[in-house]
Amino acid sequence: MKIAMVGSGYVGLVSGACFADFGHEVVCIDKDQSKIDRLRDGVMPIYEPGLAALVENNTAAGRLSFTTDLAEGVAGAQAIFIAVGTPSRRGDGHADLSFVHAVAREVGENLAGDAVVVTKSTVPVGTGDEVERIIAETGCAHRVSVVSNPEFLREGAAIGDFKRPDRIVIGAEDDFGREVMREVYRPLFLNESPILFVSRRSAELIKYAANAFLATKITFINEMADLCEKVGANVQDISRGIGMDNRIGSKFLHAGPGYGGSCFPKDTLALLKTAEDYDSPVRIVEAVVKTNDSRKRAMGRKVIEALGGLDAARGKKVALLGLTFKPNTDDMRDSPAIAIGQALADAGVEVAGYDPEGMEQAAPLMPNVRMCASAYDAIEGADAVAIVTEWDAFRALDFARVKALANAPVLVDLRNIYKPDDMRAAGFTYISVGRG
Ligand code: UDX
Repeated sequence: MKIAMVGSGYVGLVSGACFADFGHEVVCIDKDQSKIDRLRDGVMPIYEPGLAALVENNTAAGRLSFTTDLAEGVAGAQAIFIAVGTPSRRGDGHADLSFVHAVAREVGENLAGDAVVVTKSTVPVGTGDEVERIIAETGCAHRVSVVSNPEFLREGAAIGDFKRPDRIVIGAEDDFGREVMREVYRPLFLNESPILFVSRRSAELIKYAANAFLATKITFINEMADLCEKVGANVQDISRGIGMDNRIGSKFLHAGPGYGGSCFPKDTLALLKTAEDYDSPVRIVEAVVKTNDSRKRAMGRKVIEALGGLDAARGKKVALLGLTFKPNTDDMRDSPAIAIGQALADAGVEVAGYDPEGMEQAAPLMPNVRMCASAYDAIEGADAVAIVTEWDAFRALDFARVKALANAPVLVDLRNIYKPDDMRAAGFTYISVGRG
């Protein structure tokens, strides 16, 4: 089967490469000429473990190609995926659908045969109807079925998530759409990955509901962590204790500095906008968004407390380890480290930062932070070391070296990656999240 993937960003590129790996012929399309040139040379625009090899193998096998020419890319394709960005619209938080609409129009104008047009981008309820309308408006004479097929992959684990999904959600309104999608995902059906056929609107809402629920779970445990600190309980025990109940589940119960990334912040906001438009408030998500926003700066204050409070903190130095919103990515979008760095700089603290992959992306977003070549460079002369992102590289720090380099042995572990007893035994003043 020939598949066209319009948009070669995170989701488009990973999905395109994985579909090619299933044996389909895939053309990834993007307007950005330099991105397409680099992809043809095997240079990935994003950091994602395993992606470069997957692209290389499938390009060499002749199953995966790249172009800026949409007409050429969609010619003969039975499934055309729209995987362009849907950023938060400046000012109002609605998902900006201008890219999706533009692609729908261009696809309608260039279709050379019957096809299924699939939105993979995260789009608000009703977008499929709009895509259908736009394609009809172009006067396209072919049979077109518009399908919603949201993507649930996580950055850093994207290929595994794509190939071994918990479920595949397909929102289709007719048999043509369902049949083509069955063919697209045939290798996963053979693997017995659960597949859920629902209406297009339900599929669109499932994506937002899933992300909002996960964001709620994280925010819930973060507030439990705050309560644990007050009452002298351990949030990791709370997570285990509630997570063993199958109805709750153990995942996404790690307390930390608040969620960030390209999806949760944007999708929770967009869901609230939809709720507002339909006059059907989702108050729990309103609370989640507010709570998570304020938590990031609050984590900055936690570090300031560790320095002895506002007055004592002025002029002191902090090493921030881990700047990306989570490990195994170079993505800085809505990363808690940005707000934490800003809160520290506002308090007159000198901040030195290091990240294994995100330095280039972090530098322009954190102008008040001095970027260092290694964790130990950042730690040199620090009055406190703060771990913001749980990269493996920070899980086994050489504490003798940290003590020798730092000005004071103070560790603020915002991801709870160390054991309090071990750290105290190593002679550190150790502050973590929700552990007394
Ligand atoms: C998320 C969803 O998991 C994925 O299904 C969707 O397609 C896109 O959004 P992603 O943003 O890549 O994926 O990262 P994820 O691993 O879900 O983490 C999101 C944020 O939550 C990170 O900032 C992470 O540090 C934080 N988090 C996650 C916690 O603080 N605690 C947890 O227990 C889990």
